[in-house]
Amino acid sequence: MKILVTGAAGFIGSHLVEALLARPLSAGAERGPFPEGKEGGHEVVGYDNLCSGRMENLADASRSKRFSFIKGDILDPSKLVPACKGVERIYHLAADPLVKESAENPANSFEQNVVGTFRVLEAARLKGAKSFVLTSSSTVYGDAKEIPTPETAPLEPVSNYGASKLAGEHYCAAYAHTYGIRATAVRYANIFGERSGHGVMRDFYFKLKRNPKELEILGNGKQDKSYLYVEDAIEATLLAVERQKLAFDAFNIGSREKHKVDEIALLIAGIMRAKPKLAHGGGARGWAGDVPIMLLSTKKIERLGWRPKVKFEDGVKRYLDWLAAN
Ligand SMILES: NC(=O)c1ccc[n+]([C@@H]2O[C@H](COP(=O)([O-])OP(=O)(O)OC[C@H]3O[C@@H](n4cnc5c(N)ncnc54)[C@H](O)[C@@H]3O)[C@@H](O)[C@H]2O)c1
Repeated sequence: MKILVTGAAGFIGSHLVEALLARPLSAGAERGPFPEGKEGGHEVVGYDNLCSGRMENLADASRSKRFSFIKGDILDPSKLVPACKGVERIYHLAADPLVKESAENPANSFEQNVVGTFRVLEAARLKGAKSFVLTSSSTVYGDAKEIPTPETAPLEPVSNYGASKLAGEHYCAAYAHTYGIRATAVRYANIFGERSGHGVMRDFYFKLKRNPKELEILGNGKQDKSYLYVEDAIEATLLAVERQKLAFDAFNIGSREKHKVDEIALLIAGIMRAKPKLAHGGGARGWAGDVPIMLLSTKKIERLGWRPKVKFEDGVKRYLDWLAAN
């Protein structure tokens, strides 16, 4: 199958590209990294404007004959529409992924995530793609009353980023029902791992490198959230898309346990052999639009047979090793 991945040079996008290239097309086909020949994995086109993504993230993928890359913006139909020629499925990851910044610059998350998703859906429609996948977010639930939060919970974002992801989901549903493009929204918890260029773990790592004696924490340190290692997130995403039956459906993707910010700070300090004084800089929310408690119910994706494989502490160690080496 020919597949287009927007945001391919980013953190999650580059891992997704590798998984799609490695994925056998049929049961019994050769497994292993990027098999070539008839029985090999999918043909993958990466599409990214490289505003934050890096070609280094695609170094392994670029060795496969089944991978090609187009530098382009999702807001530019003159490049995007031709890029979708012959494409059956689109994984749409390109976005402004920053919650905090979406409060400071609301127009940006609207343009990138709402208009951007619309543009990619339009390209899918014009070129006859059959399925569309949007990487959505736990932030569509806002301050959920039910913890763990199921997919059926009220959708009431408290951040502009969450609103932009929810608007994107609604467009996916409308395109699914109006034009028959099967659409999947995967609502991610916090995803972490090698190549991640943002998030609390990265923040703590660099702050501790600069000053191992004191660690500034946004908020009161009690924010309690779910974190999932990137490989597990990709497996869940591929499974949800392959097994989805409805015209449009949404799947929560996260871990079963949550971790407090202070706990993460101490874990990272321990791995880095630092003993910092924790300096808390605020109240229950780390920033405007922050959700202090987030844990998604993952029963729906687990019913399809998915289980996370990488333990939280092991994932954090792998990520810190990567940060140290890069
Ligand atoms: N990382 C998480 O914890 C998390 C959680 C929930 C949802 N998500 C969603 O998953 C997706 C990937 O997130 P990520 O963490 O890998 O982010 P990332 O910033 O690493 O990747 C985004 C990629 O999109 C590209 N991009 C941005 N705007 C573009 C545009 N206008 N045209 C073309 N390319 C553009 C960037 O260059 C980058 O390579 C995003 O949609 C994000 O909202 C991520």
